[in-house]
Amino acid sequence: MNIVYLNGVFLPAQDAHISVFDRGFLFGDSVYEVIPFYQGQGFQLTHHLQRLRHSLRAVRIHSELDWADILQELVEQNGGGNLSVYLQVSRGDVGERSHSFDEAMAPTVFACCQPIRDIYSLDISEVEPIKAIVTADMRGHRCDIKSTCLQPNIMELQQARAQGAGEALQMRDGLLTEGTSSNLYVVRQNVIYTPKLGSEILGGVTRQLVLELADEHGIQLQETDLDYEQLLDADEVWISSSTRAVVPVVEVDGELIGEGTPGPLWQQMYQLFVEYHQVLMTGRKDG
Ligand code: PDD
Repeated sequence: MNIVYLNGVFLPAQDAHISVFDRGFLFGDSVYEVIPFYQGQGFQLTHHLQRLRHSLRAVRIHSELDWADILQELVEQNGGGNLSVYLQVSRGDVGERSHSFDEAMAPTVFACCQPIRDIYSLDISEVEPIKAIVTADMRGHRCDIKSTCLQPNIMELQQARAQGAGEALQMRDGLLTEGTSSNLYVVRQNVIYTPKLGSEILGGVTRQLVLELADEHGIQLQETDLDYEQLLDADEVWISSSTRAVVPVVEVDGELIGEGTPGPLWQQMYQLFVEYHQVLMTGRKDG
């Protein structure tokens, strides 16, 4: 049975209802997280909850619950295993549509989960590289907030799909920002380059892990501006997200990247992810 969490109650999905005046529905006035659980255990859970608190603070939604306990219970009620947990906190509703809000409103808290593949148990040859296109970044200017206002992202992704690509890499003011639901990396001469943190990109939990693993294993990485020429000229391009880990991009706007196959540095990073995951799962490290 698909059990969801809604405002303090665990219940079957078909019995969970929210108000038509909920501001998440009317205005996209809500924030969210997507957190993978493998064998019933949260992956990088602490980091996701830190970012959730950042998003909540930034949009002045006042909600602090025992997030980890709620999500763990949800996962257990859904049978554990490999699940992607979605957590959304909206500003709530006051029974009418009004742009302005009262800071004292009670938020709506919703969480659900769905089965995912354990991407870390794949043989490296089973990881499917993707093609990407470059699109204009149509989002607002607080991309560091994980907001549910995702219409620009989904329109850009749809454009990518229509062209047989798996992600749209966004550009703003001549610089690449990130994918519609992923962070971006370019490899040139054995150095990984990724756009700097700031309000133009989401501080990806997976991105942070890429930085840490690179640092730990002596792989050069620089957070820097990237333009279109540097992208197309790259030896390797990757994207990363919690549900996809690190994925090689072998073609951008119809042009092959490097040899048009996953590159050696991606292979090394993927392997480091697999090892990191294994250590976590055997309980030797705190996620
Ligand atoms: N998206 N950038 C954007 C715009 C994202 O939406 C995401 C994740 C990321 C990667 O962040 P992380 O490594 O913390 O997952 C970067 C999630 C998976 C989603 O919207 O489903």
